[in-house]
Amino acid sequence: MIKADCVVAACRELLTCGGPVPKRGPALGEVGLVENAWVAARGGRVVFVGTEAGFKRSVEVEDGAVRVDAGGLVGLPGFVDSHNHLPFAGTREREFSLRLRGWTYQRLAAEGMGIRSTVRETRRIGRQELAALCLRRLDEMLLTGTTTTEAKSGYGLNLDDEVKQLEAVREAAARHPMTVVPTFMGAHEVPDEFRERKEDYLDLLVHTVIPAVRDQGLARFFDVFCEEGVFSLEETERLVAAARAAGFGVKIHADEFIPLGGAELAARVGAVSADHLIASTEAGIRALAASDTVAALLPNVPFFLMQDKKPPARRLIEAGAAVALATDFNPGSSMTSNMQFVVQLGVFLLRMGIEEAVNAATANAAFALRLQDEVGSVEPGKRMDLVLYDIPSYPFLVYRLGANPVRHVIKNGAAVVRDGRLARPSL
Ligand code: NIG
Ligand code: FE
Repeated sequence: MIKADCVVAACRELLTCGGPVPKRGPALGEVGLVENAWVAARGGRVVFVGTEAGFKRSVEVEDGAVRVDAGGLVGLPGFVDSHNHLPFAGTREREFSLRLRGWTYQRLAAEGMGIRSTVRETRRIGRQELAALCLRRLDEMLLTGTTTTEAKSGYGLNLDDEVKQLEAVREAAARHPMTVVPTFMGAHEVPDEFRERKEDYLDLLVHTVIPAVRDQGLARFFDVFCEEGVFSLEETERLVAAARAAGFGVKIHADEFIPLGGAELAARVGAVSADHLIASTEAGIRALAASDTVAALLPNVPFFLMQDKKPPARRLIEAGAAVALATDFNPGSSMTSNMQFVVQLGVFLLRMGIEEAVNAATANAAFALRLQDEVGSVEPGKRMDLVLYDIPSYPFLVYRLGANPVRHVIKNGAAVVRDGRLARPSL
């Protein structure tokens, strides 16, 4: 008999999102639907997925086990948000109002607003205050069904404040059930004090900040904003080489506005993901499709910036790229951390199928953090990260726009959200 210390009973529908990852082409549409599913876990890992009869035959439930009655509910793996700028301070609603009056994101940046204004606010507050902001945001994410997230620095832009951001992330993660993957993004923008001498900022990143973040074990990935007016393709290459030499996995903000060749570069250097891709060329799409670099699409960005251009999701899927969906949660271009909303935009804006969007937000998103052996699907051996929604069938996840039907969240085999409420609020 298989022993279990956590049991989810009688899920009306379970989307396991199981199978080989990354899911490409037609496989992206396969969600592994099991009706009337029973799931069991032990020590935080799934040990059984199947029918009631199979469960009764093969699983022995230990005393004191966590039990969740999922009768009438729909289960999905916890969402994985592979692109998230979690540790920021301040908000930019004033800038948002200016955008509504016609200012572009680039014009705001040129006038000293944009990323640089969040840098000023983030530098101003202390590590603990920042950790408290992160905790509150992690609680919100759990309540909407996210159980794993990335957290990028990139609003410090000097040694002390980048380290402060990553320490705040580490502190918050240690006190929260969410799996948090830290990414160092000191190359998010050129800070004001280096405006006239960008070379010196590159030197600082390469010779001081990258080694310090590595030595303190503060991040798993390195990310850079490869964009006209921020970091050129050549500058990105230099930074990526330094980051790789220091042992970081690489992510690239590529082709958000102007195609500089960031997608091709990401594929060439074996980056874990290339993110945005709104302006990617056919050559960029082909390069990604022929690689293991995930095409991480962030549909709330063009929606939030009210742009007509969207990432070419259909073309990427057809070409065979490994497509993921993520929030890009940040105060300037995507003020949402809700993956349900991103899945809805994947369908409404990018014309993905519901099944494709779900896999892109779970199994393939896990691959975009190289956590595919841990999270992203409900399969034996993986972490017991399962979200139960109060909907009649899984298409309601998209069809029933703007609701939050999350009823229970199981993270690592513990019921961290019950009846839509946090079992233990962080603050
Ligand atoms: O991914 N593109 C660069 N960085 C963010 C925006 C950050 C901000 O506006 O504060 C993004 O869209
Ligand atoms: Fe981003």
